[in-house]
Amino acid sequence: MTANRKVRHAPIGLFDSGVGGLSVYLHLAQQLPAEHYIYYADTLNVPYGNRDSEDIETLTLNAVEWLYQQGCKLIVIACNSASAYALDRARRCYPELPIVGLVPALKPAVLASKSGHVAVLATKATLNGTLLNDVISNVADPNGTLVTKYFDPQLVPWVESGMPVQDETAQRLRQRIQAFADDGVDQLVLGCTHYPFFKAFLLDEIARQQLSIQVVDSGQAIAERVKQLLVANQMSASLDSETKDYHSEVSSKTKVDISYPLTFHATKYSDRLGALVVRLLGRETVLQYHTE
Ligand code: DGL
Repeated sequence: MTANRKVRHAPIGLFDSGVGGLSVYLHLAQQLPAEHYIYYADTLNVPYGNRDSEDIETLTLNAVEWLYQQGCKLIVIACNSASAYALDRARRCYPELPIVGLVPALKPAVLASKSGHVAVLATKATLNGTLLNDVISNVADPNGTLVTKYFDPQLVPWVESGMPVQDETAQRLRQRIQAFADDGVDQLVLGCTHYPFFKAFLLDEIARQQLSIQVVDSGQAIAERVKQLLVANQMSASLDSETKDYHSEVSSKTKVDISYPLTFHATKYSDRLGALVVRLLGRETVLQYHTE
């Protein structure tokens, strides 16, 4: 039976420790433009990657509860670190609610690797979590693929501060790419939702140094998974033809047709945050800030 109209028009919730999950939102907005999205950024507590598992679980369950209270029909935990420690628990707490989590896109990288050596760039929490380590045991190991894990605690703060290219973090990334190539890595997995925002920087660097490394992330696959779940649960907003009448805004940067403004909620606001969100999403993205 088709979900009722109220449910079909309920928002999709997205959660991340900061602005990283916006990289997932961009894929969702492109694939599912008729949907309405609410984003929760825990900017008060970012970064999560160095926190212990209980801390990450508690913060994540708070965020999921907040999105649930907003009436979301589906929630995406758009954070690999949070998914690693709280996805199972969140699903147990809200058995009726579809909850999608993130795991680094290691499986497609292993399948695409010709050299048999891939690298995963992620937070310490994600690298130690069972979601990723299960993929290593179940896919990489049986395939004979070597997986190098790499963690730089400054990467998330670098993205949150707008990715200044003169920063030491940028310099370390340039060197790291070269080192991966020297070690025979041919697939680099961006295992944190903040990292796709510097994918263009990495690709420029790879081209400049003439390295043969592919860069992969999970954004597209997550958007496809969300689409499947909406269809399977008959809760897709696009089931109603009237959604075509909603106003349409086009992000100049991403060429995304967005039917609704993005509702953005942060646990801590600043002028710098507002400017960063606009910069990451493209200047013409319409945002509605949500404060309580
Ligand atoms: N975007 C989060 C992730 O995917 C960043 C984690 C953090 O805050 O350290 O893991």
